[in-house]
Amino acid sequence: MALTGAHPASPDAAQATHRITLRDLRHWASQGTKFAMLTCYDATTARWLWRAGVKAMLVGDTAAQILLGYDSTLPAKMPFMLELTAAVRRGAPDALIMADMPFGSYQCSNDAAVANASAFLAEGNADLVKMEVDDSFAPLVERMSHSGIPIVAHIGSRPQTVRSTGCFVSTGRTQRVADILVATAETMIRAGAVAILIEAVPDAVSKRITEQSMQPGSGRPVPVIGCGAGPSCHGQVLVLHDLLGLTDWQPPFAEPISHMGEQLIQAAAAWIQQVESGQYLRNGGPYQMQEP
Ligand code: KIV
Repeated sequence: MALTGAHPASPDAAQATHRITLRDLRHWASQGTKFAMLTCYDATTARWLWRAGVKAMLVGDTAAQILLGYDSTLPAKMPFMLELTAAVRRGAPDALIMADMPFGSYQCSNDAAVANASAFLAEGNADLVKMEVDDSFAPLVERMSHSGIPIVAHIGSRPQTVRSTGCFVSTGRTQRVADILVATAETMIRAGAVAILIEAVPDAVSKRITEQSMQPGSGRPVPVIGCGAGPSCHGQVLVLHDLLGLTDWQPPFAEPISHMGEQLIQAAAAWIQQVESGQYLRNGGPYQMQEP
C-alpha cells in the first residue's frame, strides 16, 4: 500500500485532518504503508511539498551543501538549522518535521546535545530530531529519550564522518559490518530511539533491521527510513534537489524525477529576453502618478 498525493494546486491537497506525528509514522510502519519523505529547507518549498502530499519532511544538514554551496554537511551550524526548521514548520504547519543535529552540536557534551535537541523542539517546532550515531552514542540517546526528545538514530553511511573516512561511502556490504549495523539499530532502539534512518547500505541490511526492529514492550515496529538503503524500509527519504534535477551530481540511488534545472534556465532566459528586448513593462508598469 502507498500513500497517494493529491492535486498539487490544492492548498489542502494532503487531506490530513490533523498534524502528522510520530504516531502516524508508527501506524504506517505497522500497517505496511510506505511513506515518502523529502528534505526541505524553506517555507515556500514546504508549502508546495505539503500540497503535493508529502507528509513528512527532513530539514537535513545537507542544507550546508544545497543552500550554502559547501562540499560537505560539516559547516551547518545550530542557529542556521534552527532557523530553517522553524521556516519549514511555518510553511507546512501540519507536516511531520524532522530536524537534523548538525556536526558539533552533540559530540562535545551530552548537556549541550540535550540543550540543542530541545531547541529544535521548542524553537524550531520540530516533531523529531535526527542524529548520526554509532554505539558510543547509546547513553546520550537514552538520556534524550528520558528527557522527552524523540530521537531518530541515523546509521549506515554517516556524512558527518567524511573527514575520517575521506569520502562519502556506502557501508554494510560485508557480513561483519552488516551484523554491526543490525546490532547498532537494536542498541539504539533499546536506548529509546523512536525511529531509525539508514543510509547507503544494501537492502539485505535494511530488511533485517526493518524486520527485527520492534518497540520494546509493544511488539510494534520501529519506523525504519531508508536513504539509498533498498526497498525494504518502511519509508524513504531523498534530498529534494537531487530528485528535482537541481544538483550537478546525485548519488546512485537518487535519479532525478524532474529536470527543474533546465526549467529554471528556460525561465531565466525568457526573463532576460523580456528585459533586453524592452518588452518588460512596455506599457508603463502598474503604477501611475496620482492626480495632484
Ligand atoms: O541531511 C540530510 O539531508 C540527510 C539525508 C540525506 C538522510 O541526512
